[in-house]
Amino acid sequence: MEELNAEAGKFNIWLRTQANAPAQRPWFRDTGVEASGTLAAGRVGANQIKAAPHRWRWSEIGPYLDRIAEIARNCDVPPIEFAERQQFLLTNPGLGGRLQVTNTIRCAVSIYNPGDVAPVHVHTPNASRTILSENGGYTVVEGERCEAERGDLILTPHGAWHDHGNDGATPVVWIDVLDFPLMEFLDCVWLDDEFHGERAGNGRAQAAKHADGYSQKLYGAGGLLPGFVSHRRGISRHATPMIHYRGAAIREALAGLAGEAGDPYEGITLAFVNPVNGGPAFPTLAYTAQLLRPGEETRLKRETASTMYVVMEGQGATEIAGRRFDWERNDIFVVPNFLWRRHINTGRDDAVLYSVSDAPLMEKVGQYRAQGRGRDGAVENLVA
Ligand SMILES: [Fe+2]
Repeated sequence: MEELNAEAGKFNIWLRTQANAPAQRPWFRDTGVEASGTLAAGRVGANQIKAAPHRWRWSEIGPYLDRIAEIARNCDVPPIEFAERQQFLLTNPGLGGRLQVTNTIRCAVSIYNPGDVAPVHVHTPNASRTILSENGGYTVVEGERCEAERGDLILTPHGAWHDHGNDGATPVVWIDVLDFPLMEFLDCVWLDDEFHGERAGNGRAQAAKHADGYSQKLYGAGGLLPGFVSHRRGISRHATPMIHYRGAAIREALAGLAGEAGDPYEGITLAFVNPVNGGPAFPTLAYTAQLLRPGEETRLKRETASTMYVVMEGQGATEIAGRRFDWERNDIFVVPNFLWRRHINTGRDDAVLYSVSDAPLMEKVGQYRAQGRGRDGAVENLVA
């Protein structure tokens, strides 16, 4: 059968054989992890596109940033000049080396040395920066300059001109998240770097038209929406004009709600929404900040969406499809589509997680569904 398969290849057809059995299990009926990371043998055009639950420990991956930065400092021409970025990308072990952590999300961790500039550009993927450094450089989005600090979330919607850099005295580190794999799958990845607007003094960045804090000035008072400005950034559609969320404000808002009962499946959560319509920040991705109080254990939940988490604070564990992943500050982990998971704060202090989920996309294609398990273990439909 495999010989026959090889022979048939020239006609661009593929025969089901015993050897390539893993590729014949596209339905994931049990939604368990057994199918994850299983590569089909035989003549198979592509690996299975089924992400595995995974955690990247900061203690293991973080040191590579220092090594990248060290090499960069010792070069006449730093890597950012010829590789465009000084970063590593996370690869999901279930996806055969693809540069993605879930089927829809790409994640990179970047370091910018003092003086580094990523030139102004625009692209179709939606993107964000989650700042890990105490002082996190700057990003300019459609003329809005954002001075960043740890815990900040800076959004660059598709179609919005942006540039970043570090004009401080110490290296800065942040996490980039993009819906790149989704756009790639849709054959909709394009980038433009021929910026025709006014440029900053260095010639590579865009000139700031709005001072730091412009987003907060426009949208920072909850429930109040200015009526005299456009809420569109660049040529983005259905994306948020609220570009910059401050870590300190997010933390304060979570702390203010810590005394509430919260959700049994999620604890205390705050969604980063488009202030114009209350919808998700991006048409494809939802961003959430989550507080788990000391000792808090959420109940099992699964949803038809893939979620990536960054641990901003505290320590704990998340059980995903029966496997336990311990986590601490700056660790990153993913929960692929429709796997049971629950979070546990094992520390004495609060734990804060930031998450990115493709739930808005699944909702738009009519596929979003969520289930939980009650105390008695019975499955209940949370979103049917
Ligand atoms: Fe970009």
